[in-house]
Amino acid sequence: MELTINGRKTAVDDAVIAPEMPLLWVLRDVLELTGTKFGCGVAACGACTVQVDGQATRSCVTPVAAVVGKQIRTIEGLGQPDAPHALQQAWAQHDVPQCGYCQSGMLMAAAALLLKSPNPSDAEIDAAITNLCRCGTYPRVRAAIHTAAALLQSGKKA
Ligand code: FES
Ligand code: FES
Repeated sequence: MELTINGRKTAVDDAVIAPEMPLLWVLRDVLELTGTKFGCGVAACGACTVQVDGQATRSCVTPVAAVVGKQIRTIEGLGQPDAPHALQQAWAQHDVPQCGYCQSGMLMAAAALLLKSPNPSDAEIDAAITNLCRCGTYPRVRAAIHTAAALLQSGKKA
């Protein structure tokens, strides 16, 4: 099986995966892309959120066979330490993460929202970001998305 992850074609050995294996397992256990987290396993928390063709997708309930031929983007492909995505710059500016566990999924959901809606309202953010955060970072997530939207619109994205 061949997957396209963060812009790169990635071969996965069919002997070690089954078509119905959740994408999350393939990312973490086979490809060692461990930035995407396991939380609930039942599409309830959003810790495992990645993008599939730009849509926020809960990888714990997405069979790997369903994403063949699609563009998969994980947190490892959102930005780099020397070239952070505008959301990552805004996250740092607002000190969003607390324990950090939910934050990869939050960022991927936020990035998917900004693709669809470059300047989202609070109501749009609340509707789109259904990820759970036990540390209660929701107000800072909202503020950071507004900051990132402004950064992107002013062309200051790194
Ligand atoms: S681990 Fe996928 S939604 Fe919770
Ligand atoms: S930062 Fe701890 S769960 Fe969200």
